[in-house]
Amino acid sequence: MTDITLNAPKLFDLSGQVAFVTGAGSGIGQRIAMGLAQCGADVALVDRRQDDGLANTADFITKAGRKSIQIAADVTHKVSLIDAVARTEAELGALSLAVNAAGIANANPAEEMEEDQYQTLMDINLKGIFLSCQAEANAMLKHGRGAIVNIASMSGVIVNRGLSQCHYNASKAGVIHMSKSMAMEWVGRGIRVNTISPGYTATPMNTRAEMVHQTKLFEEQTPMQRMANVDEMVGPAVFLLSDAASFVTGVDLLVDGGFCCW
Ligand SMILES: NC(=O)c1ccc[n+]([C@@H]2O[C@H](COP(=O)([O-])OP(=O)(O)OC[C@H]3O[C@@H](n4cnc5c(N)ncnc54)[C@H](O)[C@@H]3O)[C@@H](O)[C@H]2O)c1
Repeated sequence: MTDITLNAPKLFDLSGQVAFVTGAGSGIGQRIAMGLAQCGADVALVDRRQDDGLANTADFITKAGRKSIQIAADVTHKVSLIDAVARTEAELGALSLAVNAAGIANANPAEEMEEDQYQTLMDINLKGIFLSCQAEANAMLKHGRGAIVNIASMSGVIVNRGLSQCHYNASKAGVIHMSKSMAMEWVGRGIRVNTISPGYTATPMNTRAEMVHQTKLFEEQTPMQRMANVDEMVGPAVFLLSDAASFVTGVDLLVDGGFCCW
């Protein structure tokens, strides 16, 4: 065979790409943003946090030799997201990659949950993904190429034993199916959409002091007998965004230490 063009290590190279990452000030989104930069992308960092989370992500990216911009925006606000994408393209170049990791979690028995608690979580976790994808895709469709990864959860597939969080679980099931639906709407126009569904992951979302008992249970219930380190979400995200996954769309990639097997 003389026509082989395969260059496997280059498949994961994101050089020359511009990424947009929501939830980039903490946890999974922060670490994925850092990882994308290490693979060669310039990154727009989006979060509503007021602390130094985004600045810490940006410092890391500068040290990795890539460019970033910090954007304070709330993923429930359509206009903020449209403006954020426009600023990204003006300052970094044509948008080609996106990771939507902004999200919240809380719990309450279904029979007691107030409508506000339900609605606020749904607005961030499900509508926020919709509005983010819409703003990102409107730029990507103009360029005829793009890859989007939405962070769902294994809670979109299973019900976490002992956790009363029907709204969270439903929001994540929604993210998985909405992502498949968008993947099919855009399949002929150069955009791939996939989800990552993490299992229990050691981030500020669930390593607070009051969670010590809970995290011990999480470790015991996971076949690998531990929670994920946040770094372990980077490889799956790079894979799904890169040319290594050029024929992969509409997929939910469980990264759960085997949790959903049992
Ligand atoms: N940690 C886990 O065990 C786990 C497991 C499965 C899925 N997830 C999902 O991963 C994603 C990231 O979670 P994490 O564990 O890194 O949590 P985290 O709290 O460390 O990070 C979430 C980030 O999202 C931002 N955010 C929240 N609401 C926002 C809004 N309206 N607009 C803009 N930014 C907003 C927060 O400010 C925060 O920086 C979430 O969607 C979460 O549901 C987490």
